[in-house]
Amino acid sequence: MVTHFFTASSLDGFIATDEHSLVWLLTQDVDPDGPMGYNAFEKNIGALAMGSSTYEWVMRHEEGRWGYSQPTWVFSHRELELPENADVRLTQQDVQSIHAEMSAAAGDQDIWIVGGGDLAGQFADAGLLDEVWVQYAPVTLGSGAPLLPRRLDLELLEVARNRNFLCGRYSVVST
Ligand SMILES: NC(=O)c1ccc[n+]([C@@H]2O[C@H](COP(=O)([O-])OP(=O)(O)OC[C@H]3O[C@@H](n4cnc5c(N)ncnc54)[C@H](OP(=O)(O)O)[C@@H]3O)[C@@H](O)[C@H]2O)c1
Repeated sequence: MVTHFFTASSLDGFIATDEHSLVWLLTQDVDPDGPMGYNAFEKNIGALAMGSSTYEWVMRHEEGRWGYSQPTWVFSHRELELPENADVRLTQQDVQSIHAEMSAAAGDQDIWIVGGGDLAGQFADAGLLDEVWVQYAPVTLGSGAPLLPRRLDLELLEVARNRNFLCGRYSVVST
């Protein structure tokens, strides 16, 4: 069982603008069935975690429909409205205990930390982040939500081009 942070980033290391916009990303050409693409990645995922900004973006973008079948933990100190008929759990517990719950739910499948970068960093701080996948878009943003605001050593495992994106997969070596 592997815990991944799989995300897209601008070249200068931001995963959203300051206003939480992803227009710069969603206008890019990508093949979800192509090299290091989303569809094969997502097939192996048994549980998801995300912070509240990411959750609120997904809810806005999908107009309240929930697109994931896997159990999902949303970290927030607030009472957020949850989608109906979906396994979405609000939490403010520590990442260690949530990771144990996620592992039990995922069975022999992997865990995906969807974002943001600091939440992935919290899992890394606890020694619970194994891999980082970054799909770099040919854009710089200048500022925004940071990719992974930690000091980590990583090992490059795999690279690919997927249409407009430079894709890298890294293992976390030390925190
Ligand atoms: N480029 C991509 O592929 C990609 C991927 C994922 C996300 N995104 C975007 O990137 C942006 C990320 O936003 P973000 O940097 O603000 O990160 P985020 O993790 O989505 O949200 C951060 C918020 O989550 C809550 N939180 C985080 N850790 C917590 C903890 N341990 N316990 C309880 N609550 C916790 C806090 O909010 P409250 O307590 O106030 O609720 C915190 O302000 C979003 O716009 C998202 O849509 C882009």
